[in-house]
Amino acid sequence: MSKEIDKVLFSQEMIADKVEELGKKITNDYNSDDEIVVIGVLKGANMFLSDLIRKVDLPLYIDFMAVSSYGNSTESSGVVRILKDLDLEIEGKHILIIEDIVDTGLTLKYLTENLKSRKIASLKICTLLDKPSRRKCDLHIDYVGFQIPDAFIVGYGIDYAEKYRNLPYIAMIKE
Ligand code: IMP
Ligand code: MG
Repeated sequence: MSKEIDKVLFSQEMIADKVEELGKKITNDYNSDDEIVVIGVLKGANMFLSDLIRKVDLPLYIDFMAVSSYGNSTESSGVVRILKDLDLEIEGKHILIIEDIVDTGLTLKYLTENLKSRKIASLKICTLLDKPSRRKCDLHIDYVGFQIPDAFIVGYGIDYAEKYRNLPYIAMIKE
């Protein structure tokens, strides 16, 4: 384990159990003839999405978006730039956004407003981690893996300065 890792919050087993639980819920909540497009927010949600969709027993399409907040502050400004837009046409489709962490909520607020303007059938959000105490806007999240306190975490796709994404568990790092 890296010297900078402070404490493991969620082990590989805990993550796998939660992913399975979320996959079952999602499978139950949609109809098998719904045209579902699962959209992963790069890069952090990549690992979660890959594991989650294998626990969803429904036909679905996969696409990705990459976004970045304007400015170089470590905090979300709410002004979001789309670095990579969707490849698929989503008009009439049921959209399920997959995110790693919802913090202030500003990134997903922008993204959902943007996607809702594309004449979609429905939109839901699934996040592995949620920091509700940090929220700066009103955002409805349909599926939450774990609620966490206001701490900086890494692993299972989530980075600090692009490092630690490949940790198989989720951990806090030393300040
Ligand atoms: P929001 O717009 O403030 O909700 O920003 C959410 C994004 O900030 C997440 O998708 C992450 O990329 C990043 N983020 C928020 N909290 C953490 C953290 O604890 N570790 C790593 N990245 C984080
Ligand atoms: Mg992210």
